[in-house]
Amino acid sequence: MRSISCRILKNNLLKCGNYKQLCYRNVSVTSFACEKAKRNLLGGPNLKDFFKNENLAMQENIPEEEVIPYLKDVKKFGGRRKVYFDVYGCQMNVNDTEIIWSILKSNNFLKTDDLNDADVVLIITCAIREGAETKIWNRLEYLKGIRNQKLKKSKNATPMKIGILGCMAERLKHKVLEIDQSVDLVAGPDSYKDLPRLLALTQNNQTAVNVLLSLDETYADIMPVRLNENSISAFVSIMRGCDNMCTYCIVPFTRGRERSRPISSILDEIKQLRDQGVKEITLLGQNVNSYRDLSESTVKTSTNLVKGFKTVYKTKVGGMRFADLLHRVAEVDPEIRIRFTSPHPKDFPDEVLQVIQSYPNMCKNLHLPAQSGNSNVLERMRRGYTREAYLELVDHVRRLLPNVAISSDFICGFCGETDEEFEDTLSLIERVGYNTAYLFPYSMREKTTAHRRYKDDVPQEVKQKRLDRMVELYRLHADRLNRQQIGNLQLVLIEGLSKRSSAFLAGRNEANIKVIIPGEDELSWKTGTEQRSIRQGDYVAVQINSANSQVLKGIPLYLTTLSDFYRDKYLYRDKIDNLKYSSIL
Ligand code: 5AD
Ligand code: SF4
Repeated sequence: MRSISCRILKNNLLKCGNYKQLCYRNVSVTSFACEKAKRNLLGGPNLKDFFKNENLAMQENIPEEEVIPYLKDVKKFGGRRKVYFDVYGCQMNVNDTEIIWSILKSNNFLKTDDLNDADVVLIITCAIREGAETKIWNRLEYLKGIRNQKLKKSKNATPMKIGILGCMAERLKHKVLEIDQSVDLVAGPDSYKDLPRLLALTQNNQTAVNVLLSLDETYADIMPVRLNENSISAFVSIMRGCDNMCTYCIVPFTRGRERSRPISSILDEIKQLRDQGVKEITLLGQNVNSYRDLSESTVKTSTNLVKGFKTVYKTKVGGMRFADLLHRVAEVDPEIRIRFTSPHPKDFPDEVLQVIQSYPNMCKNLHLPAQSGNSNVLERMRRGYTREAYLELVDHVRRLLPNVAISSDFICGFCGETDEEFEDTLSLIERVGYNTAYLFPYSMREKTTAHRRYKDDVPQEVKQKRLDRMVELYRLHADRLNRQQIGNLQLVLIEGLSKRSSAFLAGRNEANIKVIIPGEDELSWKTGTEQRSIRQGDYVAVQINSANSQVLKGIPLYLTTLSDFYRDKYLYRDKIDNLKYSSIL
């Protein structure tokens, strides 16, 4: 924070209790900040400012004690300003937006889905690949156009405020603020609680920045407000940040160190979602299975039967582990399906696999991001395992969970990747046979170890060709695996109308593959006679009758519950009782 180095400003801000505040709008950032500080010192807060500002409190219906006293004409609270959310990137960003919306909603902001109606546009950004960032720069240009059009229409209108939030914030704060100057607010992933104050600053045409990363912010005390309140699926963040430092990845720099949310607050949120009718919960984290709630007492250490996985950091000891959390979450409601993403292959001790095996509502669907099939590339990526260790894990997982659906992430064209090394990735894809895969060409990111240590020497055309080959091979296998399902009975959770045709309904099977069924059918329960139409949130037993690499189609046979559907198949309860989790059940 360059301007904080100005002592006058720093002292002034400290006096205001507002150390993190940065205000600048000029090319000469530091000098402007100093001027600002001087003005604040001369004409700034005096004793009476630290008493109640009754006028503002009355206008806004805000508890008087919560008005920021020295920001006279600035309102900390939303004043019913309308916010439009523009969300990019991963599911974590969607869930972060729900946290942001919760914070803003309780500060008197409104949400709008109409860009032209927005007073504030918040872009929740992703920085994982260059392409993701390019999208956001283009979007920024578009938004500037809308802001100018609005100002042309009504000269007295307050200009629409634009904020850059999330992963791009820390990396690009200087570019965004000093070069581009079209942005009013920059906030990193750990500073969302500060948004009401930052947005208040923008009201005075100041640019507000808070990109500090935290060691302990988990937003455990914020109950997210869902963007799509009608959805039967919800995301719940259980941890933030990542300590793995894979050499290609920018996440540890944009989202900071790993920290876990207390188990009790996770369970509270899940119970609330259950009460709202949610039927499927996805636990989220950058490294979800290294979850460790150190505020809880020690249970026992994990036993990872598959050898050959190491980390660059010291493994945490004690506390509640991911397996313990899964256990508790699965018990909240046997009718709620549980998934989690994104895990790291190093954190799959047998306890985790046993919990997944034991509960029918734990989806037998694992994401095992391999990234490459070649041990030398994996070493350069600092993934902490070899091809052989990864394959041993896959085999072990399949022994314990015979029908598990496996998905993965792969990167092609990483620094120095030779044709032979890439062939190993193809042979791994072939050997494992993934139900779903997310395939990416390598994109060099500043700050990462790869940026410092290696050369991005695989030409773009080669990366593209390798990507095409990975896609082709993966599709072939996904198609084969999906076709193997033809004739099978599957449990499908209905999400709503199919996007392609309102005559069909769309849902997902346990493997998280989309299943399309005719929507007009009336169904009865397996043992009942009364018929009714299929609704969102129903579990339906579906016989699969056609498939391609992406989608299954089927005939709905009867309405059911998750417990009933699996009761005949497995003696789950016995397995749960046999598990030695007496301390947490
Ligand atoms: N280039 C390409 N893909 C990347 N990923 C992470 N960093 C990069 C990068 N620099 C991919 C990894 C990760 C997924 C979320 O994004 O496959 O698992
Ligand atoms: Fe990035 Fe590796 Fe952490 Fe995943 S595990 S977020 S790829 S550093």
